[in-house]
Amino acid sequence: MEIIIQPNADEASMIAARHVARLVRDKPNAVLGLATGSTPLMMYRELVRMHKEQGLDFSEVTTFNLDEYVGLSPDHPASYHAFMWDNFFSHINVKRERVHVPDGQSSHVPAFCRKYEEAIVAAGGIDLQVLGIGSDGHIGFNEPSSSLASRTRIKTLTAQTREDNAKAFGSADQVPFHVITMGVGTIMDTRHVIILAFGEKKAEAIAGAVEGPITAMNPASILQMHPVATCIIDEGAATKL
Ligand code: GLP
Repeated sequence: MEIIIQPNADEASMIAARHVARLVRDKPNAVLGLATGSTPLMMYRELVRMHKEQGLDFSEVTTFNLDEYVGLSPDHPASYHAFMWDNFFSHINVKRERVHVPDGQSSHVPAFCRKYEEAIVAAGGIDLQVLGIGSDGHIGFNEPSSSLASRTRIKTLTAQTREDNAKAFGSADQVPFHVITMGVGTIMDTRHVIILAFGEKKAEAIAGAVEGPITAMNPASILQMHPVATCIIDEGAATKL
């Protein structure tokens, strides 16, 4: 794993945005795997700036998001659909039909998850996957003890993650219990992974992911086995390395 430590989250986000932009320029029909959460926000902002000021073209790009809460409609303000449109898709020229976010309202979740996996394969596989990390080492919503070979499926959130994600819902008891997430195996099939983490709150998870043993108790640690993984963090997230 390549580890890049930057003085702050701004500079780390610029590096991540430049990786995405380089791929999109070299391969206009690139397939991007995208993440939600506060961590990639500055990267999205920079990509929007590059689109507006430098004409970075997303018209042929396909995207697949990692996860979504079960039961939320796409226009629920705390849904990851809404997050992605508000913070990124509405501000670039990506085509709606090339955007994929798991359907939290699917009436048959296992069938939906199989189709999501098939759609990734049909698109040619994910060229670049952007990841954040949960304070417990989760990637996507693959909580500790997730199978390291898992595919897209339904998962139950831990109390810790529901607490961590409470802000968007007002309180932890409003956070759905279930989510649909790409699996750890799905993430491992991507051609390049960039994992971002900022602040001391993420230091322990990052230390486990980068220097700890590979264990399902820190799902991000499997990235040590990924052939092209780049970990871009700020000094706070690097304090336990
Ligand atoms: C959620 C998302 C993850 C994200 C994590 C960290 O659980 N499913 O993809 O990495 O939150 O969020 P934040 O970046 O806000 O710390």
